Amino acid sequence: MLEQVERQMRRFIGELENEEIVKLFASLPHGKRLRAKLVLKVAHAVPEAVRLAAVIEMIHAASLLHDDVIDDAQTRRGVASLNATEGSKQAVMMGDILYSKGFEELVGFDEKIAKIVAGAVTQLSIGELMDVRLSDRFNPDLDAYMRMIYQKTAALIEATAASAALLAGKDEKIYAVYGRNLGIAFQIIDDILDITQSSEQLGKPAMHDLEEGKTTLPYIYLYEALDETGKEKLVSFHGRTLDEERKNWIRTMMEETGALRKAYFHARELGEEAVALMRGENEEALAEIVEAMIERDF
Ligand code: FPP
Ligand code: MG
Repeated sequence: MLEQVERQMRRFIGELENEEIVKLFASLPHGKRLRAKLVLKVAHAVPEAVRLAAVIEMIHAASLLHDDVIDDAQTRRGVASLNATEGSKQAVMMGDILYSKGFEELVGFDEKIAKIVAGAVTQLSIGELMDVRLSDRFNPDLDAYMRMIYQKTAALIEATAASAALLAGKDEKIYAVYGRNLGIAFQIIDDILDITQSSEQLGKPAMHDLEEGKTTLPYIYLYEALDETGKEKLVSFHGRTLDEERKNWIRTMMEETGALRKAYFHARELGEEAVALMRGENEEALAEIVEAMIERDF
């Protein structure tokens, strides 16, 4: 089924009748296709599920193209980012093309479905704006961080599950909560992996969030646990390139204070709620997606 989604995206792009766009699209790495898998699992019995999955993956790919320009990221999913190989202008325009073609196809769905997905893209953009703002300085505000990751990451995953549920005639409210929890947990696990994994494993530079200015959940918990001297030291690392000694200090303190474990438990708790919801609906495959996402190492 996932291969059908890939084919559908290629078909959408092919309709644009532009060789360069076809080539650029083919050069993009695929990633985990979490959103497509969700649509297919929720609405497996409905033929339009493939089109909806393709639309959402195109919108998601567009957001990552723009995000890499905003973050000045040189790698994405283990390969050079499009802004690195073709330049930022190409990456922004390619993002715009994927985004608008996705929308052109989205309006063909039931109005409620189109509204849910379109609304989530607005949230995603506000979330990205907040992320940029929060990166100006070290941010110890837990609530602001949680709001931001809900908007930046979870809103589209929530909309993915809810719109697929509508397509399949299922209770969209239950699936929305499932998607929201999965999305927030997904982002927290991402934050943890940035600290615990190697660059090779991640396909992007490791321990890079704080260097980029991002005070993610483990850093907020670490800040709360440190004494005044520790706090000052941590804040002074914000937005700077970190040498091995500093990285090691962060890793050690993350373990010693339990900050990493606390972040992990937060993700687990959200994940367990999502699993319980899906077991209640007899959706074993959707419960398993959450478990695999929490236990993943890249
Ligand atoms: C990755 O965050 C970024 C997102 C999940 C959302 C980005 C959204 C936009 C740029 C808004 C524009 C939207 C469209 C549809 C054109 P990250 O930088 O924390 O993750 P990363 O490490 O994977 O880069
Ligand atoms: Mg980024």
